[in-house]
Amino acid sequence: MLLARSTWTDVERYLAHSTGIVIPMGSTEQHGPIGLIGTDAATAEAVAHGLGERAQVLVAPTLALGVAQFNLAFPGTISVRATTLMATVEDLVLSLTAQGFRHFYFVNGHGGNVAPVRAAFQDIYARWSLGERSGASPRCRLRSWWEYPAADALRRTLYGAAEGMHATPSEVAITRHCDPQAFAAQTEASDGATLLPPQPLSSAFLRDHGGDNHWDARSHREAFPDGRVGSDSGLARATDGAALLELAISGAVEDYRAFLAEE
Ligand code: NI
Repeated sequence: MLLARSTWTDVERYLAHSTGIVIPMGSTEQHGPIGLIGTDAATAEAVAHGLGERAQVLVAPTLALGVAQFNLAFPGTISVRATTLMATVEDLVLSLTAQGFRHFYFVNGHGGNVAPVRAAFQDIYARWSLGERSGASPRCRLRSWWEYPAADALRRTLYGAAEGMHATPSEVAITRHCDPQAFAAQTEASDGATLLPPQPLSSAFLRDHGGDNHWDARSHREAFPDGRVGSDSGLARATDGAALLELAISGAVEDYRAFLAEE
């Protein structure tokens, strides 16, 4: 069930039996020489829509702009400030809480969104803690699709260290599966042939920059000239993307049900 394709009367009927909603969120940013700029929004949306169908839960429009300032030196990237994303998440949750929604399940496709969105959840709960709002406080959860254990295990098995941090073969594989037309000009054979493996990441880099915790855009482009951060995107195959997506959706269904059952 997609919110954008529902009427208000559909939503009123839905609220009579469920207080849950799924919100896909991603980013609009460069994903290396072969990855699509919409990769993070597309992957999160595919998982969220699968979850929506299987768990019969309403899915909100995808929040496609994320915190990606470090990629702004690559053409096509759009970044919102962390405070803008926080305000958007807060406004979304407060809008729907006032109508009877209570369980907000964010399916994320971009590491840079994690810290601000979790901070926004704390600011939302604070309104109830401080007595500004009455009634039951909302419950919010953020999961990035690669965190679901079976999907995580498969991407490690398929790619090992070549998964890297950005323009990962796993995310590119999912988009190749979901949107083959966008890749029509890139053949499976030419990818591997034209795209050399990226420079490996040191353990110190992984420690200090995990979760897309990067410096400014100019330094980032200088450090990673083709946009990939340790990821060998050329390994991405649509068939593997289909398998990764399936595992992420089943992980999401299980986790969403547990989220509703909490408390
Ligand atoms: Ni990405």
